[in-house]
Amino acid sequence: MDPCAAHTDAGHKSLPVLARNATYDREENTMTFNRSIKIAPSILSADFANFGAEIQAIEAQGADWVHIDVMDGHFVPNLTFGPPAVKAFRPHVKTVMDVHLMISPVDAYIDAYADAGADILTAHIEAGPHTHRTLQAIRGAGMKAGVALNPGTPAHAVEHLLDLTDLICVMTVNPGFGGQKFIDMTDKIRTLRAMIGDREVHIEIDGGVDTTTAPLVAAAGADVLVAGSAVFRGGSVDMPSVYGDNIKAIRAAAQG
Ligand code: DX5
Ligand code: ZN
Repeated sequence: MDPCAAHTDAGHKSLPVLARNATYDREENTMTFNRSIKIAPSILSADFANFGAEIQAIEAQGADWVHIDVMDGHFVPNLTFGPPAVKAFRPHVKTVMDVHLMISPVDAYIDAYADAGADILTAHIEAGPHTHRTLQAIRGAGMKAGVALNPGTPAHAVEHLLDLTDLICVMTVNPGFGGQKFIDMTDKIRTLRAMIGDREVHIEIDGGVDTTTAPLVAAAGADVLVAGSAVFRGGSVDMPSVYGDNIKAIRAAAQG
């Protein structure tokens, strides 16, 4: 049997992009590239029984993107959402749905996340030996392609991937859980910023971002700040202004 048979179903391959455009009436300019500071709350810190309302609340309170942490209990020691859950979040996200895959393997699930409506799909470079192919496949499925680096992975690991990627996610915690202590990766961020040059590649920081650490990573060259606990702390869908205050405080700290 042809070992590629599972990947040659033309109907399946072409479905995701068509399904996204047909189902969701979204503004085309949400992904226009710029380096201004963007706050991307991670719904890992939201009320798991109320995702739709939580997403609507953070967007109404100034979130620029919505960050969704997909964990498989294998690449990381925790388990969160699969494609059907992400698809259910999609109609609630009016900004940018930024999906961070902490799974291995990745390639077999790319079409499923395209069909779920991800705008950006980020895979870890540590998740397998063929990140080059993975990034091509993510773009081929109609999404922006991100590559994430664990704290122990050096900047030069992405040197030959820069023209295939739209976002580099620098992990400032070991992935798997929210609420961990920030690990200083500012040297790595500076190195990446220099390597990127004029390319339209975002630098995203994920883990332990708050009003103390945001200025450090922004000064080093980051433009997308993921924050879970620092956004959701103290608020709720019944008290959404706390989310707004938290988002404003992180943005103000980052902008200096
Ligand atoms: C960690 C996740 C992060 C996490 C951030 O594995 O990728 O997105 O939720 O949470 P905080 O901001 O609480 O460190
Ligand atoms: Zn994340």
